[in-house]
Amino acid sequence: MEGMNLHSVGQFPAYRPRRLRQSAALRRLVCETQLSAAQLVLPLFVRAGRKVRRPIEAMPGVFQLSPDELLREAARAHEAGVPAVLLFGIPDKKDAKASGAYASNGIVQQAVRLLKRECPELLIVTDVCLCEYMSHGHCGIVHRDRTGVKVLNDPTLKLLAQSAASHVEAGADMVAPSDMMDGRVRAIREKLDALGFTDTPILSYAAKFASAYYGPFREAAESAPQFGDRRGYQMDPANAAEALREVALDIQEGADIVMVKPALAYLDIVHRVKAEFGYPTAAYAVSAEYSMVKAAAANGWIDERAVTLESLLAMRRAGADILITYAATDAARWLKERP
Ligand code: PBG
Ligand code: ZN
Repeated sequence: MEGMNLHSVGQFPAYRPRRLRQSAALRRLVCETQLSAAQLVLPLFVRAGRKVRRPIEAMPGVFQLSPDELLREAARAHEAGVPAVLLFGIPDKKDAKASGAYASNGIVQQAVRLLKRECPELLIVTDVCLCEYMSHGHCGIVHRDRTGVKVLNDPTLKLLAQSAASHVEAGADMVAPSDMMDGRVRAIREKLDALGFTDTPILSYAAKFASAYYGPFREAAESAPQFGDRRGYQMDPANAAEALREVALDIQEGADIVMVKPALAYLDIVHRVKAEFGYPTAAYAVSAEYSMVKAAAANGWIDERAVTLESLLAMRRAGADILITYAATDAARWLKERP
């Protein structure tokens, strides 16, 4: 076994692991995995209006926020030590070409400008997808004909690249495509480069699975598909080798950071992605991961803080460098109180 030597089980002198567990100082000395606020990213939902804080029923503590409230929430996170937020927009109007996704005065673009102006040190990452802006809720352009309904890959790339460009023009520090169309990282990289944004990194949702854990998010982002499901573009939860191919492709196309999503049920993927590519790797603890902890905690069945920090630590241990979590602000505070 890795790391074993003569000083091992069945030999003399006997290895007694508990020797190193006798005091807090000793335990800290041999602690293998560090979890800190510097690794956390807080997802936030923005919609039009003023003083709007619309609660998401299945995600206690998470709200759809108007830009002014978004700024307050982002500033709170930043004060707690969270270095970055990930923005999702809920537009007033949806249509069949996702106009709101790439409008220069779209809700995310407005929010980015405000956050950049008022909280310039905070890293602004924007989710790049079309589902929130499409009347049908799919992540790409939908085409219907006699053979059925299709989500078209290549025509969608242009809109994704345009969305990413509009976010960066507004001041976003990094873009995160979550659509799972083939070739989107290249399309976005080429577009950003052509506009002179050669230094803006891409955080790719590289291995994004068609997961039931996204349920509460679709309420939060009002982005549930109106027909069908996302299995034609998101990955089959059964597939691990394919996840590595997806990540390899995104890296070839220019991804700077690769993401695995969801997190806790996919830690084997996180581990393999980190081991295989050694790239900065993000794990996204998605909406239902948050909801399940909140629900059990509300019933008094688990210790919310302990379970949250243990889950985040597990993601780090699996190999994630960056943790995207709705609990980021709380986690950052808890880590400060007792690291
Ligand atoms: C949209 C998107 C989704 C999530 C992030 N971006 C939902 C989906 O693909 O249906 C899920 C996030 C979460 O559940 O917290 N492309
Ligand atoms: Zn989408």
